[in-house]
Amino acid sequence: MKKKLLCMFMATAMTVSLLAGCGNSSADTGSTASDTAAADTAAADTTASGGGKVGVAMPTKDLQRWNQDGDNMKSELEAAGYEVDLQYAANDIATQVSQIENMINSGCQLLVIASIDGDSLGTVLEQAKEKDIPVIAYDRLIMNSDAVSYYATFDNYMVGTKQGEYIRDQLDLENAAGPFNIELVTGDPGDNNARYFFGGAMDVLQPYIDAGKLVVKSGQTDFETVATANWSTETAQARMDAIISANYADGTKLDAVLCSNDSTALGVENSLEANYTGDWPIITGQDCDIANVKNMIAGKQSMSIFKDTRTLASKVVEMVDAIMKGGEAPVNDTETYDNGTGVIPSYLCEPVFADVNNYKELLVDSGYYAESDLQ
Ligand code: BGC
Repeated sequence: MKKKLLCMFMATAMTVSLLAGCGNSSADTGSTASDTAAADTAAADTTASGGGKVGVAMPTKDLQRWNQDGDNMKSELEAAGYEVDLQYAANDIATQVSQIENMINSGCQLLVIASIDGDSLGTVLEQAKEKDIPVIAYDRLIMNSDAVSYYATFDNYMVGTKQGEYIRDQLDLENAAGPFNIELVTGDPGDNNARYFFGGAMDVLQPYIDAGKLVVKSGQTDFETVATANWSTETAQARMDAIISANYADGTKLDAVLCSNDSTALGVENSLEANYTGDWPIITGQDCDIANVKNMIAGKQSMSIFKDTRTLASKVVEMVDAIMKGGEAPVNDTETYDNGTGVIPSYLCEPVFADVNNYKELLVDSGYYAESDLQ
């Protein structure tokens, strides 16, 4: 608990020190980044300084949050005296593997990796292990590799429970008679986080589905069926188009859509706008991406989970610094995340609930976005 409080405290502290940088990065990434390997690689950067070299591998520039994560990691690591090799892999697994290989061969002494597919890095990370290069899994756990030293993330299960509880409370499932119609949309099956988000939400919602108070009219409830490859907005939109035309085209009311994150929520919102004429359903999300906060303000998305990327970056820099100085990284969870080779010591930051009532305080007053980003 103390550590969680510390994490939240650091978020506030970093707000002040990173105000200028974060304002810039959100403005830079507000438009859709071209997600080709060339574009990502061209945008990657290597800079020099004295404390040692750290490789930072991010999945893609296409989603707003990873640009912010990358920018924050780079500027904070550089401020702490490290040389940084920051790479984005255009959501292409082979590109990420070769970027990591290059980092290992070009003298990086530690790797921070947000994987595209948690199961695809085992082989390349054997090389890191042979060279005694510690690996921190960033946000997403890297599976089935004993080269992973630590994991730093937001509490993924808690993200899901907050989304499920929001739907439960908004529909007043404890007291209202129902039944209510709900549809389910989660993320990439290769991203270990998606199972935690979906699992956390379903642990809240499943009892109401079992009791018949919540009805999934499409019948699509298992993880594999409701997963969205690459967390793609277009894929989520196409699936929702099909669900609406098969189940809600006759005026049947859709009461809620559980969306595990903002990119999938955006697809659902686009689909509803084009195909659905009934009362707007409750829609959950995660990340507080600019497009989704705008939709929240416009009444098209009910909530999002705010994961302040500054908080995670600060924590990871603290971990990097401890390891590079020969010590142990701070952790607050040694039970939850088994990657198939054993439990990976983790630091879990606390995600925060955001909606139209508190977004200004959380996102604008904290300097995460400028007011003008959201207009
Ligand atoms: C992250 C989410 C993000 C999703 C899609 C997940 O691993 O935890 O914050 O929305 O990937 O990029």
